[in-house]
Amino acid sequence: MMRHASVRLLRGAWLATATKSRLYSSSNTDVIIQRLEGDCEGITVFGFSRPAAKNAISKNLLKEFEAAISSVRHDRSVRVVLLRSLVPGVFCAGADLKERATMKPEEVGPFVSKARACIGDLENLPMPVIVALDGAALGGGLEMALACDLRVAADNAKMGLVETKLAIIPGAGGTQRLPRIVGTAKAKELIYTAAVLNGKEAEEIGLVNAVAPQNENGDAAYLKAVELAKKIIPNGPVGVKMAKTAITRGMEVDLTTGLSIEEACYAQVIPTKDRIEGLTAFREKRKPQYKGE
Ligand code: COA
Repeated sequence: MMRHASVRLLRGAWLATATKSRLYSSSNTDVIIQRLEGDCEGITVFGFSRPAAKNAISKNLLKEFEAAISSVRHDRSVRVVLLRSLVPGVFCAGADLKERATMKPEEVGPFVSKARACIGDLENLPMPVIVALDGAALGGGLEMALACDLRVAADNAKMGLVETKLAIIPGAGGTQRLPRIVGTAKAKELIYTAAVLNGKEAEEIGLVNAVAPQNENGDAAYLKAVELAKKIIPNGPVGVKMAKTAITRGMEVDLTTGLSIEEACYAQVIPTKDRIEGLTAFREKRKPQYKGE
């Protein structure tokens, strides 16, 4: 059963949760990891919780985010990772501009490289990653979302790579991932003009997979993302991971090479117990019980 209860978390951070859940790591302050339970078991949620700076990406937030990513990478019980904000009205305000102002020019490049690498690690997680955008996702906040497999936004969310307004460029993958998602001409338009789109506009250009009308709790995108995740969880975990690899890697190469990647990924599902379970369940007219083996 879906539960819609509001609970108070660390530092009074706001959280409306769709399900029973348990905190996985309470030592973090900026990125809270929760494992959902009940019919949402298999979903791990990373919740950004830096209200004073609207979840801006500071050195500490980046460190905690990288640790969160590492903690699930080899965990077979994690079927889907879901990114959300625990701060009302905002997903992530991008780079921490106050911290950035204190950095020497020679520190900026290495920090941005770190952010780029971290977002690359997010993209390379083996399981699907869904991001729920219930508020503003600007600059690095949107770049984070671009590295996810699926994006869900509330209609009142605000999304934009606004870096040129600050006389810089997107530096954590935005110039590369945005055109791959919405096409070169649209990405150029959005980046040159530092445009900010709402959920509906983002859906129209294929920037987000789905848009949901915002609700009273301000978590419509999160609830929609959980709904999507719940449709993934029952499917064969190895199959889902291999599909992710085949699509992600295949889209970067020519078709012939892509088909070889598909073949290599298919080869990995053939020896699995889950494949046999799928065939057996079909024959026995029951739901398959996959174990990721
Ligand atoms: N870095 C550091 N602090 C930030 C921040 C950022 N990127 N974005 C917001 N904050 C801080 C504000 O400075 C403010 O701090 P203060 O209370 O000490 O003044 C606090 O968060 C609240 O911000 P505020 O602008 O009042 O909130 P809002 O709800 O009206 O608007 C945003 C939220 C995210 C739309 C707005 O803050 C914004 O546009 N931020 C900058 C986004 C940006 O340009 N990012 C960089 C991309 S490269």
